[in-house]
Amino acid sequence: MMRNTASPEATYRATTPRSAAFEARGLASLPITSSRGISFNPPYPVTIERATGPHLIDIDGNRYIDLGSNFFSMIHGYAYAPIVDAVTEQLARGSAWSANNAPQVDLAEQIVARVPSVEKVLFNNSGTEAFSLALNICRGATGRYKFLMAAGGYHGSMFDPSLGSKGLPGPSHYVAPYGETAPFVAAIRAHGPELAAVFVEGIMGSGAFAQAEPGFFDAVKKACHDVGAIFVLDEVISLRLSEGGYQKLHGIDPDLTMMGKIIGGGFPIGGVGGKAALMDLTNPTSGSVLASGTFSGNPLSMTAGAISVRDLTQARIDEIGAWATRIEAGIKSAAGAVNLPIWTRRVGSMVAWFFTDPGPGCVFGATRTDLAMVKRHQLAMLVNGLFPTPRAALATSTAMSDSLVDEIIDRFAASLATLLADPSA
Ligand SMILES: Cc1ncc(COP(=O)(O)O)c(C=O)c1O
Repeated sequence: MMRNTASPEATYRATTPRSAAFEARGLASLPITSSRGISFNPPYPVTIERATGPHLIDIDGNRYIDLGSNFFSMIHGYAYAPIVDAVTEQLARGSAWSANNAPQVDLAEQIVARVPSVEKVLFNNSGTEAFSLALNICRGATGRYKFLMAAGGYHGSMFDPSLGSKGLPGPSHYVAPYGETAPFVAAIRAHGPELAAVFVEGIMGSGAFAQAEPGFFDAVKKACHDVGAIFVLDEVISLRLSEGGYQKLHGIDPDLTMMGKIIGGGFPIGGVGGKAALMDLTNPTSGSVLASGTFSGNPLSMTAGAISVRDLTQARIDEIGAWATRIEAGIKSAAGAVNLPIWTRRVGSMVAWFFTDPGPGCVFGATRTDLAMVKRHQLAMLVNGLFPTPRAALATSTAMSDSLVDEIIDRFAASLATLLADPSA
């Protein structure tokens, strides 16, 4: 492979002129051309024209190996043939109506069979909506409205997550340090009588895959029940870690579980599952909680999701985990070869890397000490044909292969060479 040694930004601008023009056009009518603040990278994001398998192709014809998986959702890659075929067929028969559809029951049955604590499940259109439904169920069950979450955690865009990481509690929520049993439990006890729910992630996506100390989740659940609050585990990211998610791997038994991303097969999706007594509060004939949404449970998301879940067998989960292990080792040896200090974290099929020592806990995007380097490296990766998340993290997918993993490692090494040769640094 040719090693690129010009400034990453100069190369990027030279190779993506149509994307630059599209961004300029978009900004006249949109505040964020991609509609998602997190998808912006300076000087402008590329505009993707099509995506197949593990590849993204932009409007200038540049091809990237996708390492971002649309924020960990595209676990079978893009345009996965079984999903394309089934959804195309469903689309011709209609995309949404206000009545039952068969694929919804198919997806629900699979999730109930796989995720240990889930006795019943309900779908909507995003992890954000899953949060909103879970909170409403907890309000209905407890008669309270406040909740507690990890500082800097992310449960969707209903609440600005940066408020938490700035230590600013919102009008209806409290924060406590993720994964640290004693202060977290103390916060639950301190606010106990006010709390409808405690929301916590299996692994902290926003904290660069930080993991809780052993015993944390059991202690959180016990403290919740002691104060009459409901324990909600957010598995929107972590469900990919085993057939039954993070909870199956670690023997956690939440009252409710939030889901999203991989259970939609690339279509808009959110889900809340859990104990039947709580879920049945949404039953329209007997319950007190409204579950609604014009496109909730639509047959396109349900069809795609049922195939995505069906095809994510434990063997495939193990395979993409092994690829991530190999990529993590490749990142370390590529950095070692050019004497660049690098630290990594891997959880299953996801890998994060750091240019300064992250220590054991949460590392938050906006405040990380290697932020400038991460941003420059993002461009260095793009000009070397890799499409990462903007936070120095990647996920493998079943659309990859052994040889593609080799190519990823080689291109990662090239991206470090570009970074080190950057004359603007
Ligand atoms: C842990 C977690 N919860 C909730 C959400 C919100 O999901 P969505 O973006 O589908 O609204 C996300 C999204 O990244 C997430 O990572």
